[in-house]
Amino acid sequence: MASASHSSFTCDDRSSFVPLATVRLDLVALTLEHAPALFACASDPEVSSRFAWTRHTSLADSRRFIVRTMVAYARGGHHEWGIVRRADQALIGTCGLDVFDRSGCVADVSYALARACWGRGYATEAASAVIGFGFSVLGLRAIEAQAFAENTASQQVMAKLGMCHVDTRAVGAEDGDRSVARVWRLERERWAGWRVVTIG
Ligand SMILES: CC(C)(COP(=O)(O)OP(=O)(O)OC[C@H]1O[C@@H](n2cnc3c(N)ncnc32)[C@H](O)[C@@H]1OP(=O)(O)O)[C@@H](O)C(=O)NCCC(=O)NCCS
Repeated sequence: MASASHSSFTCDDRSSFVPLATVRLDLVALTLEHAPALFACASDPEVSSRFAWTRHTSLADSRRFIVRTMVAYARGGHHEWGIVRRADQALIGTCGLDVFDRSGCVADVSYALARACWGRGYATEAASAVIGFGFSVLGLRAIEAQAFAENTASQQVMAKLGMCHVDTRAVGAEDGDRSVARVWRLERERWAGWRVVTIG
């Protein structure tokens, strides 16, 4: 567990998988039972074109993705949650935290939801819990998120999470076209003022 003091910050990025809970959602380890629901989400071009996924074109793609994720859970330090809506136990998406700068204790948060579930606040709710985990359990100093400039919904989620737009970068899109990504960032000190998540 990291101290809140910058001078003694450590990043426990070998930690075991930790399930999280919010008011409406359970954030769980992905298992092969989730493959059909994951496939429904990850095979939708409206989702994959906005996300860092290569689109899944068969159920086998989703099963392979989950197997790789399970192996990574076993190694430790892999923070990728399946988002399960508690009311009907449906897997509706995923949310992840990637510690891309270990020495600086900075991670990237990402999220994707099945299209039928957009616009109900689920991404904000899930990402709030994941950000709370990142700051309070991993001891991160800052959390970033990126979205293509035209991805207004994702950036609205970032704004609702208290993040600030800090950078704009040219990135290579999947089809080879240059596109623009906006980087948003939340510093630990700023998060501490709006602690809203429940960690299960
Ligand atoms: C981005 C995504 C996760 C958002 O999920 P969600 O559960 O609908 O998000 P929320 O409901 O928590 O918030 C979405 C916000 O964007 C707003 N929004 C949605 N579409 C919008 C648009 N075209 N223009 C402006 N605002 C928009 C919603 O009104 C809502 O804001 P509000 O609560 O202030 O009204 C979902 O659209 C998705 O999975 N997209 C594909 C994958 C992706 O883009 N992932 C992020 C990659 S960085």
